[in-house]
Amino acid sequence: MNFNPADLPTEFQTERLLLRRYQPGDAAAYWRMLSENRAHLREFLPKELEPAQGEGDIREHFKWQEKMWRRGEIFILGMWERASGVFVGEVYLANPDWGVPCIEAGYFTVKMQGGKGYAVEGLRAVCRIAFERMGVRRVELQCAADNEKSARVARRCGFTLEGRLRERDHKKDGLPVDRLWFGLLRSEWLASLQQQLNFI
Ligand SMILES: CC(C)(COP(=O)(O)OP(=O)(O)OC[C@H]1O[C@@H](n2cnc3c(N)ncnc32)[C@H](O)[C@@H]1OP(=O)(O)O)[C@@H](O)C(=O)NCCC(=O)NCCS
Repeated sequence: MNFNPADLPTEFQTERLLLRRYQPGDAAAYWRMLSENRAHLREFLPKELEPAQGEGDIREHFKWQEKMWRRGEIFILGMWERASGVFVGEVYLANPDWGVPCIEAGYFTVKMQGGKGYAVEGLRAVCRIAFERMGVRRVELQCAADNEKSARVARRCGFTLEGRLRERDHKKDGLPVDRLWFGLLRSEWLASLQQQLNFI
């Protein structure tokens, strides 16, 4: 690892969004969001969150996220609309391979906030964090082959489809689905820097 996770800011701003690490005080709102978006996030939710019963479990989950951040393994940022303070989704960097170095990005938007470009804005921001602050050579991204919206977000951010792993995943109902892998190289990101969002 060629950066210290403790030196990484826990808060960033983009044109329309505040991205920041969750705090214990976010647990109630996060639990409400999760309850309202269960169906929308069904295929995406990590296993650890599936049995969550209330905001106490979410607080524990936030503690786990903080530990993973300190260890340099997972960096999860909530996304809030700056103008209204409304929570709109989440972006993360995870599963780094510091030997390359590279890291994986992921995201979701809450159902009511879809189609506004917030996943695109959040993904661009974490790519910038990965390239500029972590010094990675490439950012990777995976999604199920039937998740067309997610693939569109990746392409809009300049990612290239690099591979299709047949029946590598299965839906929650057990049906197999192909997994798509996308990649964005530092050189490609630098070339498109003009379109990147400015941090304030
Ligand atoms: C995948 C997911 C994040 C995509 O969300 P989304 O709302 O389509 O993504 P965005 O918020 O970036 O919006 C993009 C859309 O907004 C539109 N848009 C509106 N204003 C925009 C702006 N200022 N900038 C960019 N796009 C904008 C774009 O045209 C695009 O529409 P299109 O998909 O019809 O081309 C969302 O469906 C989701 O959370 N799904 C469940 C979890 C999930 O699957 N996560 C990904 C796992 S790999």
